[in-house]
Amino acid sequence: MSKCPYTTDAAGHPLDDQNAALRAGSTGPLVVDPRLYEHNAIFNRERIPERVVHANGAGAFGTFRVTKDVSQYTKASFLSSVGKETKIAARFSTVAGERGFADADRDVRGFGVRFYTDEGNFDLVGNNTPIFFVRDPNKFQDFIHSQKRNPQTDLRDWEARWDFWSLSPESVHQVLILMSDRGVPRTYRHEHGYGSHTFSLINDKDERVWCKWHMRTNQGYETLAEEEAQKVRGANPDSHKDDLFHAIERGEYPSWKVCLQIMTDEQAKKMDFDIFDLTKVWSHKEFPLIEVGEMTLNRNPQNYFAEVEQLALSPGNLVPGIGASPDPMLQIRLIAYTDAANYRLGVNHYQLPVNAPVCPVSHKKYRDGLMNPSANSGGHPNYQPNSMDKYPTFKEGSWEPPLPLDQAVVQRKRQGQPDDVYFQPRALFQMFEKDHKERVYKNVAGTMKGIKQEIIERQLEVFGKVDAELEQGIRVALEQEA
Ligand code: HEM
Repeated sequence: MSKCPYTTDAAGHPLDDQNAALRAGSTGPLVVDPRLYEHNAIFNRERIPERVVHANGAGAFGTFRVTKDVSQYTKASFLSSVGKETKIAARFSTVAGERGFADADRDVRGFGVRFYTDEGNFDLVGNNTPIFFVRDPNKFQDFIHSQKRNPQTDLRDWEARWDFWSLSPESVHQVLILMSDRGVPRTYRHEHGYGSHTFSLINDKDERVWCKWHMRTNQGYETLAEEEAQKVRGANPDSHKDDLFHAIERGEYPSWKVCLQIMTDEQAKKMDFDIFDLTKVWSHKEFPLIEVGEMTLNRNPQNYFAEVEQLALSPGNLVPGIGASPDPMLQIRLIAYTDAANYRLGVNHYQLPVNAPVCPVSHKKYRDGLMNPSANSGGHPNYQPNSMDKYPTFKEGSWEPPLPLDQAVVQRKRQGQPDDVYFQPRALFQMFEKDHKERVYKNVAGTMKGIKQEIIERQLEVFGKVDAELEQGIRVALEQEA
């Protein structure tokens, strides 16, 4: 297209004047003008559905390099030797805001990384916090409704948020982080990332360990206090996107150390909480971070829509040597993202350049569908087994080893004990300095202004079970706000 010396329409016809419509005389009405129709029709269809969550974000590209040998834990090819490099794509986002919403919102941040490995794409679709608000996948959709806009007023609604949280005490750990100094990162470059869920690592002897992924920022961990965040939101709603793009343009390439926490199954069985519960962290003292490599972002997208809006990350993109876990939140996510991408981008989204793997692919059964730009596997049989394929078509050992399950009953069981949700936020709150605690009280009170007293009381009861000092501090801050 770039080699064409003149402007054309979509079908390649040269245009004589791209800025003028065909008219009857110089002052008369329009006459049928297929060029104008096409121009206008393509413009009218520019918007595609935004992501149902994490719509507002920024992306960049770079490299992951292995720095430590972890082959004892995983046979993942891209981690197989020190120095090995793999191309990556990263997308950072806020959760609740629509495209264009203020980046410096008090919200969790998405931290998604795609590794274009030689055995297929591995997507680590995590957040900037190690835990999450809910632990039952059937609550996620309602949780998101409470974070997004009110169905009547179309306003973001703190009453709905506190209503949902106060009725879902398992959220209190994540709520405490959100309301703390960790609630608003200074930029996307100054935050840590987490895979959050418990994953599996599988080595070449088919031995499984449990793991958590951590990305530790090399830029220094920095956040915005609420007053500062409010100013940034007003002055530049695109603050984080702006910062990431221009840092990379200046050659200040952000990087993160990629680390693992490892737990054996024997250790897991002795833990006094469910290690597949997404509202829980693992102690760094007991399970220290093991460095695996470093990721660096050194290229901006040439075209935001093509490379960032059309990026379709999915936790279901796992590679041999890295597996999922029984965490039900992770289990639904293994399929939810492809479903979302089928809706947002279409069933052939996996063929878009930013989604296509860099390794050779062979999926001759995947055919047709809307907007299929490929050769569609030509005349090759579209079924298997077939008697024409003369070569082995499957790779042994590329799926996970068997995972024994100790529960063999199918039931709609609420995960966890009702009271096991308080001990970790309690330990976190008790680590905060006095002035940090004061800021938590103020941040909470600031968002509770004008909401129903019964919701406030219910949430205060939850905070009181974390720590009486937390409840009392917020009560005082609420009186000061009144
Ligand atoms: C985006 C579903 C929990 C991180 C999305 C999208 C869906 C979704 C449908 C939009 C995908 C797209 O249109 O491309 C779910 C469901 C969850 C869940 C059903 C649980 C029941 C989580 C958790 C995390 C997370 C626990 C982090 C630990 C993300 C991120 C994105 C995202 C980072 C944006 C990906 C990107 O940048 O393209 N989620 N999600 N989600 N989700 Fe989740």
